[in-house]
Amino acid sequence: MVFETVGVVGLGTMGAGIAEVFARAGIRVVGVEADQEALDRGLGHLEASTGRALEKGRLSAGEREEILSRVTLTTSRDDLRDADLVVEAIPEVMEYKVALFTDLDRICKPSAVLATNTSSLQVTALAAATGRPGRVVGMHFFNPAPVMGLVEVVGTVVTEPGVVTSVSDLAVRLGKTPVAVGDRAGFVVNRLLLPYLNHAVTLLDHGVAARDDIDNAMRLGVGLPMGPFSLLDLIGLDTSYEIMGVLFEESRSERHAPSPLLRSYVAAGWLGRKSGRGFYGEPASESTPEKAAASTVRVEGSQELAATLAAAGFKDSAEPDVVLRVGEAALEERAVQVRVTGKVAELSGSVLTSRQAVLCARDLLRVAGYTPVPCRRFVIDALLYAHLNDAVHMYSSGYASIADIDAAMRLGCGYPQGPFELMESIGLAKVRDGLRALYAEHLAPSFAPAPLLDQLVTAGLDAFPRA
Ligand code: 3HC
Repeated sequence: MVFETVGVVGLGTMGAGIAEVFARAGIRVVGVEADQEALDRGLGHLEASTGRALEKGRLSAGEREEILSRVTLTTSRDDLRDADLVVEAIPEVMEYKVALFTDLDRICKPSAVLATNTSSLQVTALAAATGRPGRVVGMHFFNPAPVMGLVEVVGTVVTEPGVVTSVSDLAVRLGKTPVAVGDRAGFVVNRLLLPYLNHAVTLLDHGVAARDDIDNAMRLGVGLPMGPFSLLDLIGLDTSYEIMGVLFEESRSERHAPSPLLRSYVAAGWLGRKSGRGFYGEPASESTPEKAAASTVRVEGSQELAATLAAAGFKDSAEPDVVLRVGEAALEERAVQVRVTGKVAELSGSVLTSRQAVLCARDLLRVAGYTPVPCRRFVIDALLYAHLNDAVHMYSSGYASIADIDAAMRLGCGYPQGPFELMESIGLAKVRDGLRALYAEHLAPSFAPAPLLDQLVTAGLDAFPRA
């Protein structure tokens, strides 16, 4: 299959990004929008994105001109008649997509491949709406499309042999890494990513920790490129809510139940970056941050933390302002439990801990160079371990290989390591034991260690089996 002219229908953030990716690879693009206004907006996205690359010296003015000149913009779908491939990136409404695919099937030459960038709808249902179900696939890009290195290529039970391979080869030509996946709700990335993001919303909703603290914990503590709330704002809260709905519809698992807070934000029209307000973007709060001063501190359970605080000038005392405990739960007024992950120090008081002690702990940990994350329960383990456990379940169900899952999360979401690589660097036993402790506390099935993880630890192994 030769792909020299590609159509992109829908030039919103994703569609315009996809059009740019094709044009950058030297492929002619026909970009289609519903009306002139939408077309102008699409052109605006393309100009802004390539303009930024020009400013950063990543493109020369000549290269930018060439890229833009490869893109023809039109409001007529009939202009797609010569396209070898059409990628659809219109709103996630099945009715609209079915109507579009029926139209594309009529307009495009019989050899053309029709692809959808859907993140939540069933590709098979779109294939069935055409007279060429064997040549309909998913081609799922990640936001921002010009930057993220992954394309999920979704084949269905009716896809003709060779089509997934040809589209995957095209993805390589675009400079992306393809991962071939089945037509299962959420494919690989969204099926892993969205339940984790939704979990973060639940923690926020339950008052376990504040938005910025959770974002800091996952960005600075785990090394993810964005915290869950910034990422939800980037993806769009409506899209995220829809994906959760589709996952829940398929699995009926408690883990996939969309958070009521997410639903409320969507109902309020707070959709994230696209609407100017999501988890971020609310008017600044007027309250002045509470302050507390501590000059004496006792650290229990970590010589390293004690040394860092001593080096920062805090003195030990028989009657300290605050007692920081690493390990056992603290049950006294001045005692605050601390867990350090990289430069993040999560801190949590017991029911007996005074607010003053928590504020003191927060401030002195900040002075000592940590990013303090006050929380009612530690958030990093809860969010991360449940997320990693999901990856083990996905692999164990035979849906995707360890290499594909790792590559998908690294390239699709910018993770520094894939979930399996991350578990191996943390230590499988530590992850398993962390999950056991969380399960004992919450009795939530998502915390029950996946049998494979448990078995590997029991067998004394510290790596996952790779082919
Ligand atoms: N369009 C084009 N280019 C962009 C861009 C955009 N919207 N945003 C950033 N870039 C470019 C910048 O120009 C810069 O390019 P350069 O290296 O050539 O100078 C590069 O990306 C890095 O950008 P910045 O330095 O400004 O910012 P960061 O280093 O903070 O990186 C990020 C930004 C790449 C978005 C990074 O934070 C990241 O990887 N985040 C994770 C995003 C993610 O998880 N996406 C997947 C979401 S799930 C999804 O899309 C599926 C869907 O179905 C829901």
